[in-house]
Amino acid sequence: MKFLQLSVLPFLIVILSLNGATLAHPYGDFLHCLSLRISNSSTISKVIYTQNNPSYSSVLNASIHNNRFSTPTTPKPYAIITPRKTSHVQSTIYCSKNHGFQLRIRSGGHDVEGVSYVSQVPFVILDLVNFRDVNVDTKNEVAWVQSGATTGELYYGIASKTQTLGFPAGICHTIGIGGHLSGGGFGVLGRKYGLAIDHVIDAKLVDANGRVLRRKSMGEDLFWAIRGGGGNTFGVVLAWKVKLVPVPPVVTVFTVNKNLEQNATKIFHRWQYIAHKLPKDLFTTVWVMKVNSSQVGKKTVQAGFRGMFLGGVDELLPLIQHEFPELGLAKENCTQMSWVQSILYFGGLPIQTVDILLNRHALPVSSLKAKTDFVREPMSETGIEGFMNMFLEEEADFAITMIEAFGGRMDEIRENELPYPHRAGILFESSYFVQWTNEADAGLCINWIRRLYSYMASYASKSPREAYYNYKDLDLGTNNIIGYTSYEQASVWGLKYFKNNFKRLVQIKTKVDPMNFFRNEQSIPPL
Ligand code: FDA
Repeated sequence: MKFLQLSVLPFLIVILSLNGATLAHPYGDFLHCLSLRISNSSTISKVIYTQNNPSYSSVLNASIHNNRFSTPTTPKPYAIITPRKTSHVQSTIYCSKNHGFQLRIRSGGHDVEGVSYVSQVPFVILDLVNFRDVNVDTKNEVAWVQSGATTGELYYGIASKTQTLGFPAGICHTIGIGGHLSGGGFGVLGRKYGLAIDHVIDAKLVDANGRVLRRKSMGEDLFWAIRGGGGNTFGVVLAWKVKLVPVPPVVTVFTVNKNLEQNATKIFHRWQYIAHKLPKDLFTTVWVMKVNSSQVGKKTVQAGFRGMFLGGVDELLPLIQHEFPELGLAKENCTQMSWVQSILYFGGLPIQTVDILLNRHALPVSSLKAKTDFVREPMSETGIEGFMNMFLEEEADFAITMIEAFGGRMDEIRENELPYPHRAGILFESSYFVQWTNEADAGLCINWIRRLYSYMASYASKSPREAYYNYKDLDLGTNNIIGYTSYEQASVWGLKYFKNNFKRLVQIKTKVDPMNFFRNEQSIPPL
């Protein structure tokens, strides 16, 4: 099927070939439908951005966090709708459905495969950038957060009211709550409290029929599914009610960098046996990347051992020295700070600038490809050596693997408690990333990460080889772009992300959206 780019607006009929048949694409009818339903003209100009609107490109690009999907040949949406009210969301669903446009929902735009803002068929984007309210209720230790807010805005909202409550979600502060909570949400509080979705206690969703549902009215099946069963699948989640968690006023963070010449391989080998068994208050992670060697002109590979302890340095040091003396942690590697400052620390930002959490554009954007693994058995030393050596290759100049210790609370939650199944017995999760700035390098870099992933096959979980939905990887398999996708076809990727929960997700999808209105390359298909 050929994607036709629309440049002349507004009342144009687009023709597309669909499985051999030809359909008229009433783009003008879609806009007409929307404008009838959003009748206030001053509101329309702030809500609908067509391709001939001077702000179209800036609105589109504002939440693109992977330049791989922002090239001149990347398919563009016919329109971007930035709703300001629930009724605008309902109208967008109604008009897209009735006039044959696929809908892509975008909150923070961090989808690593770009599926929140790219589609191969005519589509519009529902961009929740104006749904950003964060209401923190410290008395009841809860917050309502709208999907378009970032994790940073939520963290900031909590920290501006209290130093003793926090929320267990991702490390990066620019990720959107909408996509993040649709797939899991793991961060530095993960060993203590589990995932972000483990703390969702209510939600507000607009379904394919435009109905506005809360937990009670959607029922426990659908409420289960939206907490990790994938975005753009069951409806548009407008807001989430989350339970906040206690954090101490002072936490301690640390970094110890070891390269290949400093025994990085051996220390990482040892870390695998220890990190998942440490007390829940201690989270550790290893960041592997290429760095300059002390020998001029040479490169080496560094394993950066980083961690956060929910307490002071005086308690942390004897604990690490007893459990993991090989790391050689010293007081000068440690810094005490507040929980919210630790977010900045892990994001590589100055910890004094907490206001930066409100800046959605604070981090540079490059082109990237990601893959993930969950590891259940420690890797051999030679296995680690081979893995590290791959970072010496030229294509890995801007590659990083973030290896996050599991165990703790993650071991206590049943696999079917929520759609996200990777819980007990996981030693660590590895997120592999490769980045490039020159498009000419894309092929080589993507090939490198695919080779790294092949190499890791012997060490990763098996049958299925588990993967984290929040770092989508279309290499694992996709739905048919148009038409029906069978259960068997979708199982190829679905079982990797959801294991035995996949079947229940398909059943719920079949019940709540049988016509598959909410769909993307890896959304749950109905039967
Ligand atoms: P985006 O808006 O692109 O949406 C992602 C998916 O959810 C799309 O399918 C979209 O249609 C759908 N969606 C979005 N809003 C929706 C809504 N309101 N209702 C229904 N569907 C909706 N993860 C993690 O667990 N821990 C971490 O530390 C990090 N760190 C991190 C750093 C960086 C730089 C990146 C690029 C990604 C991460 N992630 C992560 C992964 C992140 O959790 C994942 O990409 C989220 O889906 C991002 O959510 P956004 O809303 O930003 O994405």
